[in-house]
Amino acid sequence: MRRKLVAGNWKMNGSLAALAELDGIAAAAAAYPGVDVAVAVPATLIAPAHARAPGLAIGAEDIHPAPSGAHTGCLSAAMVAEAGATFTIVGHSERRIEQRESGQDVWAKAEAGHRGGLGVILCLGETDVERASGRAERVVSSQLERALPGDATGDWLTIAYEPRWAIGTGLTPTPGDVQAIHGAVRAKMVDLLGDAGHAIRILYGGSVTGENAARMFALPDVDGALVGGASLTAAKFVPIIAAAAGL
Ligand code: 13P
Repeated sequence: MRRKLVAGNWKMNGSLAALAELDGIAAAAAAYPGVDVAVAVPATLIAPAHARAPGLAIGAEDIHPAPSGAHTGCLSAAMVAEAGATFTIVGHSERRIEQRESGQDVWAKAEAGHRGGLGVILCLGETDVERASGRAERVVSSQLERALPGDATGDWLTIAYEPRWAIGTGLTPTPGDVQAIHGAVRAKMVDLLGDAGHAIRILYGGSVTGENAARMFALPDVDGALVGGASLTAAKFVPIIAAAAGL
Protein backbone atom coordinates (compact mmCIF):
# COMPACT_ATOMS: atom_id res chain seq x y z
CA MET A 1 0.00 0.00 0.00
CA ARG A 2 1.39 3.38 -0.98
CA ARG A 3 0.67 6.16 1.52
CA LYS A 4 -0.65 9.38 0.04
CA LEU A 5 1.81 12.29 -0.07
CA VAL A 6 0.72 15.90 -0.37
CA ALA A 7 3.76 18.07 -1.11
CA GLY A 8 3.85 21.84 -1.49
CA ASN A 9 6.27 23.68 -3.76
CA TRP A 10 6.57 27.34 -2.82
CA LYS A 11 8.80 28.10 -5.85
CA MET A 12 10.19 31.69 -5.63
CA ASN A 13 7.54 32.76 -3.13
CA GLY A 14 7.47 33.21 0.61
CA SER A 15 9.30 35.11 3.32
CA LEU A 16 10.02 34.75 7.01
CA ALA A 17 6.58 36.24 7.69
CA ALA A 18 4.94 33.68 5.38
CA LEU A 19 6.30 30.84 7.51
CA ALA A 20 3.35 31.49 9.84
CA GLU A 21 1.35 29.47 7.26
CA LEU A 22 3.34 26.40 8.30
CA ASP A 23 1.60 26.39 11.69
CA GLY A 24 -1.73 25.45 10.15
CA ILE A 25 -0.10 23.04 7.70
CA ALA A 26 1.80 21.29 10.52
CA ALA A 27 -1.40 21.07 12.55
CA ALA A 28 -3.16 19.39 9.60
CA ALA A 29 -0.26 17.00 9.13
CA ALA A 30 -0.63 15.98 12.77
CA ALA A 31 -4.42 15.75 12.47
CA TYR A 32 -4.24 13.40 9.45
CA PRO A 33 -1.51 10.90 10.36
CA GLY A 34 -2.45 8.66 7.44
CA VAL A 35 -1.18 11.26 4.96
CA ASP A 36 2.44 12.32 4.44
CA VAL A 37 2.78 16.11 4.19
CA ALA A 38 5.83 17.99 2.93
CA VAL A 39 6.69 21.53 1.85
CA ALA A 40 9.59 22.55 -0.42
CA VAL A 41 10.61 26.15 0.21
CA PRO A 42 13.20 28.58 -1.18
CA ALA A 43 16.68 27.72 0.13
CA THR A 44 16.81 30.79 2.39
CA LEU A 45 13.72 29.54 4.22
CA ILE A 46 14.73 25.92 4.79
CA ALA A 47 16.39 26.47 8.18
CA PRO A 48 13.76 28.84 9.60
CA ALA A 49 10.95 26.64 8.22
CA HIS A 50 12.47 23.60 9.91
CA ALA A 51 12.86 25.55 13.15
CA ARG A 52 9.27 26.74 13.04
CA ALA A 53 7.73 23.36 12.09
CA PRO A 54 10.15 20.67 13.24
CA GLY A 55 7.56 17.93 12.77
CA LEU A 56 6.93 18.79 9.13
CA ALA A 57 9.02 17.49 6.21
CA ILE A 58 10.76 20.55 4.75
CA GLY A 59 12.50 20.25 1.42
CA ALA A 60 14.64 22.04 -1.14
CA GLU A 61 13.39 22.94 -4.61
CA ASP A 62 16.62 21.93 -6.34
CA ILE A 63 20.19 20.80 -5.63
CA HIS A 64 23.44 20.68 -7.59
CA PRO A 65 24.62 17.17 -8.55
CA ALA A 66 28.15 17.68 -7.16
CA PRO A 67 28.95 17.29 -3.45
CA SER A 68 31.01 20.52 -3.36
CA GLY A 69 33.24 22.67 -5.56
CA ALA A 70 33.37 25.68 -7.85
CA HIS A 71 29.66 26.13 -8.60
CA THR A 72 28.84 29.71 -7.68
CA GLY A 73 25.31 30.16 -6.44
CA CYS A 74 24.52 26.45 -6.15
CA LEU A 75 23.76 24.22 -3.16
CA SER A 76 24.66 20.57 -2.57
CA ALA A 77 22.45 17.89 -1.07
CA ALA A 78 24.55 17.99 2.12
CA MET A 79 24.07 21.75 2.43
CA VAL A 80 20.30 21.67 2.21
CA ALA A 81 20.23 18.63 4.51
CA GLU A 82 22.29 20.51 7.09
CA ALA A 83 19.78 23.35 6.89
CA GLY A 84 17.00 20.90 7.74
CA ALA A 85 15.74 19.62 4.39
CA THR A 86 14.77 15.96 4.26
CA PHE A 87 13.97 15.92 0.56
CA THR A 88 14.48 17.81 -2.68
CA ILE A 89 12.55 18.35 -5.87
CA VAL A 90 14.53 17.70 -9.08
CA GLY A 91 13.66 18.28 -12.73
CA HIS A 92 10.81 20.71 -12.21
CA SER A 93 9.66 21.93 -15.64
CA GLU A 94 10.42 25.53 -14.66
CA ARG A 95 14.06 24.53 -14.19
CA ARG A 96 14.12 22.32 -17.28
CA ILE A 97 12.99 25.41 -19.24
CA GLU A 98 14.61 28.38 -17.45
CA GLN A 99 17.89 26.65 -16.52
CA ARG A 100 17.86 24.35 -19.56
CA GLU A 101 18.27 21.23 -17.45
CA SER A 102 18.59 18.02 -19.47
CA GLY A 103 17.38 14.55 -18.58
CA GLN A 104 20.97 13.67 -17.74
CA ASP A 105 21.17 16.66 -15.34
CA VAL A 106 17.97 15.56 -13.64
CA TRP A 107 19.24 12.00 -13.30
CA ALA A 108 22.49 13.26 -11.73
CA LYS A 109 20.56 15.45 -9.28
CA ALA A 110 18.30 12.56 -8.29
CA GLU A 111 21.37 10.37 -7.65
CA ALA A 112 23.05 13.16 -5.68
CA GLY A 113 19.96 13.69 -3.55
CA HIS A 114 19.84 10.00 -2.71
CA ARG A 115 23.58 9.85 -1.96
CA GLY A 116 23.12 12.85 0.33
CA GLY A 117 20.38 11.09 2.27
CA LEU A 118 17.47 13.11 0.86
CA GLY A 119 14.13 11.95 -0.45
CA VAL A 120 13.74 12.97 -4.11
CA ILE A 121 10.65 14.17 -5.98
CA LEU A 122 11.44 13.80 -9.70
CA CYS A 123 9.17 15.83 -12.00
CA LEU A 124 8.02 14.88 -15.50
CA GLY A 125 5.52 16.46 -17.86
CA GLU A 126 4.68 17.31 -21.45
CA THR A 127 4.00 20.70 -23.08
CA ASP A 128 0.68 21.71 -24.61
CA VAL A 129 2.10 21.19 -28.11
CA GLU A 130 3.26 17.69 -27.23
CA ARG A 131 -0.17 16.82 -25.80
CA ALA A 132 -2.03 18.30 -28.76
CA SER A 133 0.03 16.19 -31.14
CA GLY A 134 -0.72 12.99 -29.21
CA ARG A 135 2.80 12.58 -27.85
CA ALA A 136 2.20 13.15 -24.12
CA GLU A 137 2.70 9.54 -23.05
CA ARG A 138 5.78 9.05 -25.20
CA VAL A 139 7.40 12.29 -23.97
CA VAL A 140 6.78 11.52 -20.29
CA SER A 141 7.96 7.96 -20.71
CA SER A 142 11.18 9.09 -22.34
CA GLN A 143 11.79 11.74 -19.64
CA LEU A 144 11.36 8.97 -17.06
CA GLU A 145 13.73 6.62 -18.84
CA ARG A 146 16.44 9.30 -18.98
CA ALA A 147 16.19 10.51 -15.39
CA LEU A 148 15.20 7.46 -13.36
CA PRO A 149 18.06 6.18 -11.17
CA GLY A 150 18.56 2.45 -11.66
CA ASP A 151 18.63 1.84 -7.91
CA ALA A 152 15.44 3.80 -7.17
CA THR A 153 13.08 2.53 -4.49
CA GLY A 154 9.89 3.89 -2.97
CA ASP A 155 11.81 4.61 0.23
CA TRP A 156 13.44 7.63 -1.32
CA LEU A 157 12.05 8.35 -4.78
CA THR A 158 8.70 9.89 -5.70
CA ILE A 159 7.63 10.80 -9.25
CA ALA A 160 5.53 13.91 -9.92
CA TYR A 161 3.63 14.11 -13.21
CA GLU A 162 3.12 17.81 -13.92
CA PRO A 163 1.91 18.68 -17.42
CA ARG A 164 3.53 22.05 -18.12
CA TRP A 165 0.35 23.52 -19.53
CA ALA A 166 -1.52 22.75 -16.30
CA ILE A 167 0.97 24.55 -14.03
CA GLY A 168 -0.43 27.78 -12.63
CA THR A 169 -3.10 27.98 -15.35
CA GLY A 170 -6.19 26.62 -13.64
CA LEU A 171 -6.32 23.97 -16.37
CA THR A 172 -6.14 20.28 -15.49
CA PRO A 173 -6.13 17.12 -17.61
CA THR A 174 -9.21 14.93 -17.37
CA PRO A 175 -9.02 12.18 -14.74
CA GLY A 176 -8.81 9.71 -17.62
CA ASP A 177 -5.79 11.49 -19.08
CA VAL A 178 -4.09 11.64 -15.67
CA GLN A 179 -4.63 7.93 -15.05
CA ALA A 180 -3.39 7.08 -18.55
CA ILE A 181 -0.06 8.83 -17.91
CA HIS A 182 0.29 7.59 -14.33
CA GLY A 183 -0.48 4.04 -15.48
CA ALA A 184 2.14 4.32 -18.22
CA VAL A 185 4.71 5.70 -15.74
CA ARG A 186 3.93 2.85 -13.35
CA ALA A 187 4.30 0.23 -16.11
CA LYS A 188 7.60 1.73 -17.24
CA MET A 189 8.99 1.80 -13.69
CA VAL A 190 8.06 -1.85 -13.18
CA ASP A 191 9.68 -2.62 -16.51
CA LEU A 192 12.91 -0.83 -15.51
CA LEU A 193 13.06 -1.58 -11.78
CA GLY A 194 10.99 -4.70 -11.28
CA ASP A 195 8.84 -4.89 -8.15
CA ALA A 196 10.38 -1.70 -6.72
CA GLY A 197 8.40 0.14 -9.39
CA HIS A 198 5.16 -0.73 -7.62
CA ALA A 199 6.21 1.01 -4.41
CA ILE A 200 7.28 4.35 -5.91
CA ARG A 201 4.63 7.02 -5.47
CA ILE A 202 3.39 9.03 -8.43
CA LEU A 203 2.00 12.48 -7.58
CA TYR A 204 -0.12 14.60 -9.86
CA GLY A 205 0.76 18.32 -10.08
CA GLY A 206 -0.73 21.26 -11.97
CA SER A 207 -3.49 23.53 -10.66
CA VAL A 208 -4.44 21.18 -7.81
CA THR A 209 -6.97 22.76 -5.44
CA GLY A 210 -9.20 21.73 -2.58
CA GLU A 211 -11.98 21.41 -5.15
CA ASN A 212 -10.34 19.04 -7.64
CA ALA A 213 -7.95 17.08 -5.37
CA ALA A 214 -10.37 14.32 -4.34
CA ARG A 215 -11.11 13.55 -7.99
CA MET A 216 -7.40 13.04 -8.67
CA PHE A 217 -6.74 11.07 -5.47
CA ALA A 218 -9.48 8.58 -6.38
CA LEU A 219 -7.47 7.40 -9.41
CA PRO A 220 -5.62 4.11 -8.86
CA ASP A 221 -2.13 5.36 -9.75
CA VAL A 222 -2.37 8.83 -8.18
CA ASP A 223 -0.58 8.68 -4.84
CA GLY A 224 -0.87 12.33 -3.91
CA ALA A 225 -0.16 15.79 -5.27
CA LEU A 226 2.61 18.29 -5.83
CA VAL A 227 0.98 21.65 -5.22
CA GLY A 228 2.25 25.11 -6.19
CA GLY A 229 -0.03 28.11 -5.68
CA ALA A 230 -2.45 26.40 -3.33
CA SER A 231 0.39 25.39 -0.99
CA LEU A 232 1.24 28.99 -0.10
CA THR A 233 -1.50 29.34 2.50
CA ALA A 234 -2.81 26.87 5.06
CA ALA A 235 -6.35 27.87 4.09
CA LYS A 236 -5.86 26.49 0.58
CA PHE A 237 -3.41 23.67 1.33
CA VAL A 238 -5.16 22.00 4.27
CA PRO A 239 -8.29 21.04 2.25
CA ILE A 240 -5.99 19.15 -0.17
CA ILE A 241 -4.43 17.27 2.78
CA ALA A 242 -7.95 16.50 4.04
CA ALA A 243 -8.93 15.20 0.60
CA ALA A 244 -5.93 12.85 0.65
CA ALA A 245 -7.15 11.57 4.02
CA GLY A 246 -10.44 10.74 2.31
CA LEU A 247 -12.37 13.56 4.01
P1 13P B 1 0.40 25.03 -9.44
O1 13P B 1 -0.22 24.16 -8.38
O2 13P B 1 0.54 26.46 -9.01
O3 13P B 1 -0.25 24.83 -10.76
O4 13P B 1 1.93 24.53 -9.60
C1 13P B 1 2.18 23.18 -9.76
C2 13P B 1 3.63 22.96 -9.65
O5 13P B 1 4.39 23.32 -10.53
C3 13P B 1 4.13 22.31 -8.43
O6 13P B 1 5.46 21.94 -8.57
